[in-house]
Amino acid sequence: MADVATVPSQWERVGGAPAVRAVLDRFYVDMLAEPQLAAYFADRSVDNIKPHLAEVLKVVLGGPGAKELDLAAYLTGAHANLGVSPEDYKRTGEVLLGALDAFDVEADIVSTIVAALEAVAPYVISPAA
Ligand code: HEM
Repeated sequence: MADVATVPSQWERVGGAPAVRAVLDRFYVDMLAEPQLAAYFADRSVDNIKPHLAEVLKVVLGGPGAKELDLAAYLTGAHANLGVSPEDYKRTGEVLLGALDAFDVEADIVSTIVAALEAVAPYVISPAA
């Protein structure tokens, strides 16, 4: 059996920071192509959000030196005033899965991200939406 220290994390297997950046580039292009979703980003630059989302994915995929992130507090704070509806959250998940598919990301890694999407939904969806 391989030494546990030599087993690559999902973050490493997906291709690390450059691969995640490529996926997120594609993700935001696709998000902004849908008027319903693009509206949330109307007065913001996705280039500022991308590195933060990459950091969240680093935590989720077990990347090295991932920050200690309290995802509940962080994501609740980031989305508190946006009024994200359950439908738009669902569609965002589909767009992200589409981007992962476009890069042939392996099924177990996709499963980890699907689980994370379910786990963080309450922090992103607005209670009033
Ligand atoms: C699917 C799970 C999601 C995760 C993990 C996530 C993650 C993040 C992160 C890490 C940030 C940056 C926070 C910071 O500035 O430090 C952010 C900001 C933002 N997110 Fe999300 N997000 C998610 C879903 C969504 C959805 C569904 C929408 C709307 C359709 C959305 C719209 C935004 C907007 C507009 C900002 C910028 C907020 C601002 O500038 O004040 N996010 N998100």
